[in-house]
Amino acid sequence: MTDGGASAAAAPSGLVVVKLGGTTITEQAQLLDQVAELSSARPVVVVHGGGARVTSWLERLGVPTRFEDGLRVTDAAALEVTAAVLRGAANVELVAALRARGCDAVGLSGVDGGLLAGRRVAGKGFVASVSAVRTELLRTLLAAGHVPVIAPLALDEDGAVCNVNADDAAAGLARGLGAGRLVLLTDVDGIRGADGVRIPRIGAEQAERLIAAGVIGGGMVPKVRAALRGLAAAPGAAAIIADGAGPDVLRRALGDADLGTRIVAQPEPA
Ligand SMILES: Nc1ncnc2c1ncn2[C@@H]1O[C@H](COP(=O)(O)OP(=O)(O)OP(=O)(O)O)[C@@H](O)[C@H]1O
Ligand SMILES: [Mg+2]
Repeated sequence: MTDGGASAAAAPSGLVVVKLGGTTITEQAQLLDQVAELSSARPVVVVHGGGARVTSWLERLGVPTRFEDGLRVTDAAALEVTAAVLRGAANVELVAALRARGCDAVGLSGVDGGLLAGRRVAGKGFVASVSAVRTELLRTLLAAGHVPVIAPLALDEDGAVCNVNADDAAAGLARGLGAGRLVLLTDVDGIRGADGVRIPRIGAEQAERLIAAGVIGGGMVPKVRAALRGLAAAPGAAAIIADGAGPDVLRRALGDADLGTRIVAQPEPA
């Protein structure tokens, strides 16, 4: 029923999990065209972030928050705003925009149908990492031709609503569903090295080295770790981090174009 992360996922399928970075959502008309087109050809699950939008609402409402390790420390007041923005405005707008493109999108959060179970991250308040995925509801929706659009919230061990990093949510869903591809679209052209140049392929060792050196920081830390985890349980699957604003980005991400940063399970041979 669930994939706890440690268990092996099913063989990679034609399913694609696409994560839309919150920072790209407002300017992504042509990206949404691509998501709609792709979803007419193969099963697609969309996960969205909304970090920039949550920040702007928190500021507007005078609720202070801070980031630690790329995760927003979320108290009860911040959670209320976060849930309202992610499950409310961000999700509903995305569903509407996809539906306007002929895509049979259905909005959900990780709370609905117990989709995402989380484990509290110590010291971060109402923030959880994905510990299990309940996939039946998604499989039912996908089989009926729907495109699930998922806001990154989860229930923790005590049944409390928690904020989850959207990349972690996307990776958990990709793993749980045995997706063949995980595409993390963001606002940069991939992971950049110390020289500021995009790194075309990265494995766990190099990623952790660059995190320790402070070269990979902010939201890129949970992103690359999620991509690595999303891959680990699914041999044959592939993950990529790319700029959602690039032309034809989805088709190129699913092909073998030199695009973004491909996450590889094994480091390159020397
Ligand atoms: N080495 C790096 N290479 C590229 N980007 C990096 C690096 N280190 C830190 N970053 C930052 O990571 C950011 C992307 O992560 P961020 O969490 O901000 O966006 P997102 O995940 O696309 O959106 P959301 O969090 O709303 O879902 C980039 O905009 C960049 O500022
Ligand atoms: Mg992020």
